[in-house]
Amino acid sequence: MVEVEGLSFGYRRSETILADVTVAFPSGTVTAVTGPSGKGKSTLLYLIGLLLSPWEGAIRIGGTDTVGLPDRIRSRLRAERIGFVFQDAALDATRTVIDNVVEGSVYSGMSRRTARRRAVALMDRFGVGLRADHKPGEVSGGQAQRVALCRALLADPDVILADEPTGNLDVGTAQVVIDALRDAAHDEDKTVIVATHDPDVMDACDRVWEL
Ligand SMILES: Nc1ncnc2c1ncn2[C@@H]1O[C@H](COP(=O)(O)OP(=O)(O)O)[C@@H](O)[C@H]1O
Ligand SMILES: [Mg+2]
Repeated sequence: MVEVEGLSFGYRRSETILADVTVAFPSGTVTAVTGPSGKGKSTLLYLIGLLLSPWEGAIRIGGTDTVGLPDRIRSRLRAERIGFVFQDAALDATRTVIDNVVEGSVYSGMSRRTARRRAVALMDRFGVGLRADHKPGEVSGGQAQRVALCRALLADPDVILADEPTGNLDVGTAQVVIDALRDAAHDEDKTVIVATHDPDVMDACDRVWEL
């Protein structure tokens, strides 16, 4: 479970983006974070994902407040407990698909052998196993997004953050990505938070929270 309490943040002192935000995201649940473009959906995900630090407030992951922890601890929490699916997949075009999936976890200390074994299982599960040795430029948008999801799931995180994961996908492909996120929440009791302005995605989520 992720709890955000009294959260305030801006990129510049002169411009507050999030003011006193309080919201809880239960585990086993897919929650959509909605709101108009520019409202701060991505920013909220980056804060929960420990990629930014708030001005004020608490961000608790499984009861532990992450704000103010030393960078070293925040990095470890991020590697072990949080999976981030970035907008447009954000795969490294110079590496194969499977190397994209394993690299972050190997960097964080997982053995390459374990990482590859887990990657193959995840990629088979999400229907992209046959694309393992391709470059990202050789897979479709929906496949790339599923690869990004495999990367986010590799270290078996408690929290999955997905930023507009169906942004450029057609309806059928978007459904596959959403089903995968729902499975992660419902079958494995993960906390899944999806920033989206797509009404079809909102319908497929268990809860909708408007920023
Ligand atoms: N790196 C940044 N530096 C300065 N301002 C930013 C940065 N990223 C986003 N913003 C601004 O913060 C606001 C919220 O952006 P964002 O979180 O991306 O909104 P959303 O995802 O809801 O569209 C916008 O006004 C945006 O221009
Ligand atoms: Mg955004």
